[in-house]
Amino acid sequence: MTTPAELLELSPVMPVVVLDDVAHAVPVAEALLRGGIRVIEVTLRTPAALASIERIATAVPELVVGAGTVTAPEHAKQAVDAGSRFIVTPGSTDALLDAVAATGLPFLPGVSTVGEAMRAAERGCSVLKFFPAEAAGGAAYLKSIYGPLPGLRFCPTGGITVSSAADYLALPNVGCVGGSWLTPKDVLAAGDWQRVEELAAATTTLR
Ligand code: 3PG
Repeated sequence: MTTPAELLELSPVMPVVVLDDVAHAVPVAEALLRGGIRVIEVTLRTPAALASIERIATAVPELVVGAGTVTAPEHAKQAVDAGSRFIVTPGSTDALLDAVAATGLPFLPGVSTVGEAMRAAERGCSVLKFFPAEAAGGAAYLKSIYGPLPGLRFCPTGGITVSSAADYLALPNVGCVGGSWLTPKDVLAAGDWQRVEELAAATTTLR
């Protein structure tokens, strides 16, 4: 099983994907894989999400598929049952992290402040999602907290683009960044898998 630290090493950019149509799941996953991506976070924001994770886990096992936007304790078991290999939460509450930890899957708890990061570290979580990255202080914020919290590593997500990703990836406490720009809604609606592959390929040398 992949550790949280290893999850951050799979690809410089972890695609954060919103799937409205389960039929898009496998073509999107295959396009990301062709573009050189090894990991995908499917957000539990749509009715198609869990079935999409299931299809990707079965049909594209080379891609490590996880469940994102896990905001309620009951999502944790649903994510496991669908075949998720990791879990990402946008924020952290005790009840949510208890449920997610109980799955035994690697997970990235979401934090946006120093205090939240320290609370997560107290629970034994040293690999975290920093969300919403741009709105919460961006790369400058993460750079500032490396001094007092050098043992923590982050996957910043939220408002990051192909242009701003490199600033984050240059930081010693950032392993990868998350972003939805590899799978824009209009590109998925048009079934333009070639475009998804191109957007993915443009990220593989960012680190
Ligand atoms: C997330 O859930 O991590 C964010 O919605 C992704 O942020 P982005 O759409 O700004 O990339």
